[in-house]
Amino acid sequence: MKKKIIILIAIIVGIASIYFFLNQKAEAPGGTSNGSGNVNIPAEDLAKYTIDVQESLYYIVNKNRNLSASYIPASLVKADVALVPGDNPEEQQLRSEAAAAAKTMFEEADKAGFDLILASGYRSAQLQEILFNSYVARDGLEAASKYSARPGTSEHQTGLALDVTTKSRECYLEICFAETPEGKWLKKNAHKYGFHLRYQKGKETVTGYQFEPWHFRYVGNDLAKILYDSGQTMEEFFGILL
Ligand code: DAL
Ligand code: ZN
Repeated sequence: MKKKIIILIAIIVGIASIYFFLNQKAEAPGGTSNGSGNVNIPAEDLAKYTIDVQESLYYIVNKNRNLSASYIPASLVKADVALVPGDNPEEQQLRSEAAAAAKTMFEEADKAGFDLILASGYRSAQLQEILFNSYVARDGLEAASKYSARPGTSEHQTGLALDVTTKSRECYLEICFAETPEGKWLKKNAHKYGFHLRYQKGKETVTGYQFEPWHFRYVGNDLAKILYDSGQTMEEFFGILL
């Protein structure tokens, strides 16, 4: 009888230990975001994504995480999508992975009746410097910093970011783009092609920038879906605080 009780206790302790171990694993550091997101991501899923190498599809660029001034993505190509006529040829380029995904996305948008146009893709640190300085001269440093990145900290330098507009240029790079049919279609569908709406409404303190319903970042289909389903920004998913 005594032996049976000891075996029973051992089984209970064993089951409790396994339960405790599994619970710990699901909540391991790095397995969750910084707390502002709404899902728990297993640590092994996070490990799939390399965020610290400039050439990585998942490299996070923000106000605290720059690219070197000389960094130029290896596989820039001219985007095979509708472009703003007379636009700077540099900005008509994207990294090949993003260019292929953008072509598919623009074609699918067209089939659904939406005319998307690429307003800005790749930008070198030098071009970003010219743009940033012009915005500072116009609006002052504080205001400009809410919508424009300092040279070396723009996601456009990765060749993976794109600003989208419409044939009519309705709400061109303006917040009201979110209310246009194209803006709504992109918000709902861009993740299906690997694009993430990078600067979201209500996440200004997390991303460091105002809402930009026209700016999408290519991260590949898997991560784009995870971010879309969870409503998280890249900073939240990877637990990075500004
Ligand atoms: N508008 C974004 C933040 C950029 O300048 O890269
Ligand atoms: Zn942009």
